[in-house]
Amino acid sequence: MNAEANTRDLLSRRKPGFSLEQAFYSDPDIFSLDIQEIFCRDWLYAIPACALPKTGSYVTHRIGAYGIVIIRGQDGVIRAFHNTCRHRGSIICKAASGHVPKLVCPYHQWTYELDGKLLWARDMGPDFDASKYGLKPIHCRELAGLVYICLADQAPDFDAFAALAEPYLAPHGLSDAKIAYQSTIVEEGNWKLVWENNRECYHCGGNHPALCRTFPDDPAVTGVEEGDTPPALAAHFDRCENANLPSRFHIDAAGQYRLARMPLKVGAKSYTMSGDIAVRRRLGRVPFDDAGSLLKFHYPTTWNHFLPDHSITFRVTPIGPQQTEVQTTWLVHKDAVEGVDYDLEKLTEVWVATNDEDRRVVEDNQIGINSPSYEPGPYSSIQETGVNQFVNWYCNTLGSRLDPVRLAAE
Ligand code: FES
Ligand SMILES: [Fe+2]
Repeated sequence: MNAEANTRDLLSRRKPGFSLEQAFYSDPDIFSLDIQEIFCRDWLYAIPACALPKTGSYVTHRIGAYGIVIIRGQDGVIRAFHNTCRHRGSIICKAASGHVPKLVCPYHQWTYELDGKLLWARDMGPDFDASKYGLKPIHCRELAGLVYICLADQAPDFDAFAALAEPYLAPHGLSDAKIAYQSTIVEEGNWKLVWENNRECYHCGGNHPALCRTFPDDPAVTGVEEGDTPPALAAHFDRCENANLPSRFHIDAAGQYRLARMPLKVGAKSYTMSGDIAVRRRLGRVPFDDAGSLLKFHYPTTWNHFLPDHSITFRVTPIGPQQTEVQTTWLVHKDAVEGVDYDLEKLTEVWVATNDEDRRVVEDNQIGINSPSYEPGPYSSIQETGVNQFVNWYCNTLGSRLDPVRLAAE
C-alpha cells in the first residue's frame, strides 16, 4: 500500500475521542503528507510585520524543503518569495534575518529588486529576457500587523478569517509594535503533540507553576464549546463588548481558527509573576487592564495571547517527524523603553518557563508514544475538548485532501 492509501486506512479506523495511532506521531511518510497536504496548502502565520521595520528588512523561513524569504519593499509592502535563485538555483538569503538594498545571489550575483524582479544578470547574452526570471512569489497577506503566507499555487480563502479577526486584533495596535524579545526552541516531538499539548490545560496545574499564577486552568476558559457560557464568562464578554472590545467566542465551521477574549484569574492583568502589568507604555488601546487575554489560534501554525499591555505570538514549524520549532515573540509598543517602561525579565519569565515546561511534557509524550506498547488513549470529555477539536480538524483536513476522487481529478 502506498503512503496515501495507508494513511487513509489509518484515518478511517480512527477511534473518535481517542489519541491518534503511533504512526501519526512518528512515521516519516505521514510527516511528508502533513507537510505536503497541510503546511504547503494552508495559510501559515509567519512573522509580526514589525519584524521588518524598514525597506529591505527581511527574514527567512523554512517549510519542509521550501526556503522562503519575506521582505519589505520600497513601497512598504511586505512580500514573500521562494529563496531560490532563478539562475541555477542557489539559496539567496542565508541569514535568519537582515537588511539589504537588493536581493543578490551569492553564487553569480544575479540581482533582484525587493519586489522580486530580476534587475541585473551579467553576460547572459543579447537574447536573455530578464522579465522571465523574477523570483517566484509566495502568497502573502498582512492582517492587523501579522504576516501570513501560503505556499499553494491557489491559496484558500483568507478573507473570512481576516474579516473575523481584524476587529478583535485592531485594539491591540500591533502595527505600532516592536519585538522586545524572541525565543526559538526546538521540541523533540511531532508538531501535533505540540498542538495537542497547547489545546488543553489539563496539564497546567501539574506543570506550569508560573503560568498558573495568572492563567485559569478552568475548562470553560480553555475549552472550545460554543454556547453554554457560564454566567461569569458571559458577564466578562458583555463588559468587554460594551466597551467596544470584541471578545465573544468564535470558532469557524471547519474548526481551523478561534478567537475569544478570556479573563485571567481574579486580580491578574498580564502574564507576570505578580499578575500586574508588564509594560507601562501599553501596546494598543484596550480600555481596562483586567480585560484578560485575547486567545487566537489558527491551525496549523499559530496560537497567540493579546494582552492589555503587550502581545505574544507563537509560531509552530515542523522540522521532522519528531522535531518541531516553536518561536515565541513578545511585542511591546515601539516607544516603550526597556528598563524604563518594562523589565525584560519580568516581561518574559512566565512564558520562557512555560515554554520550557511544555517542551518537556511534549518530549516525554513522544518518548512514551514511541514504545510498541503505546495505544491510543481516551480524551477527558471535561478537560480535553480542545485536543479533540484539534485532532478532528487534522483528521478531517488530511482525510479530505487524500480523498481518492479529488486526487484522481488533479
Ligand atoms: S545561481 Fe544565483 S546567480 Fe547563479
Ligand atoms: Fe502547557
